[in-house]
Amino acid sequence: MLKKKNLWIISDEIYSELTYDGNIAPSLSDSRYKRCHDKLVVLDGFSKYCAMTGWRLGYIIAPSMLIDEMIKVQQNFLICAPSISQAAAIHALDCEMESKEMLNIYKKRRDYIFNRLNAIKGIKCLKPRGAFYVFANIKQLDIPSREFSLSLLDKAHVATCPGISFGTNGEGFVRFSYTTNIEKIKIGMDRLESFIREEI
Ligand SMILES: Cc1ncc(COP(=O)(O)O)c(C=O)c1O
Repeated sequence: MLKKKNLWIISDEIYSELTYDGNIAPSLSDSRYKRCHDKLVVLDGFSKYCAMTGWRLGYIIAPSMLIDEMIKVQQNFLICAPSISQAAAIHALDCEMESKEMLNIYKKRRDYIFNRLNAIKGIKCLKPRGAFYVFANIKQLDIPSREFSLSLLDKAHVATCPGISFGTNGEGFVRFSYTTNIEKIKIGMDRLESFIREEI
């Protein structure tokens, strides 16, 4: 169908290696999808699986004629990715074991936050199969997501991302991240419980 409509696909696969419970995030660069490869751009990077957010290092897989044009822009605007980040990434490529350990830690945090959120009246969420966020449904609380997030930040000092930031279909949801340690997640969940009990 995409072929018929002459569309390009930009596939952001940054979380593809951060999956749990044996789930696999299929990449559109897989040969199974080769029919769309002449109009496919895959984005990936070191930010997530190698915990290198802030090191500003990513990569693109795309048809060579597009890469040729991208190189012109890249060379004139940026010259190169930071050399210190490139050196760190070479080391990170040898850290598969550490990344797997990190994934196990994320999994424990995911299970913890999933159970805590679902135990709160008015909130429900699905168990994430990848990445490090829970997108929780707060519709029963009957409060706009931005108002909820701002008030939770102001009154309980817990930072979340309102679903409306992702577009109108995200309204009624709030995104919780579990990139911090489990002790802090516990404090955050305790504060969230009190906030809902006392402020909503
Ligand atoms: C969907 C998505 N794509 C890509 C990135 C990676 O961004 P960067 O490589 O700029 O850290 C992120 C990070 O938050 C993300 O959530």
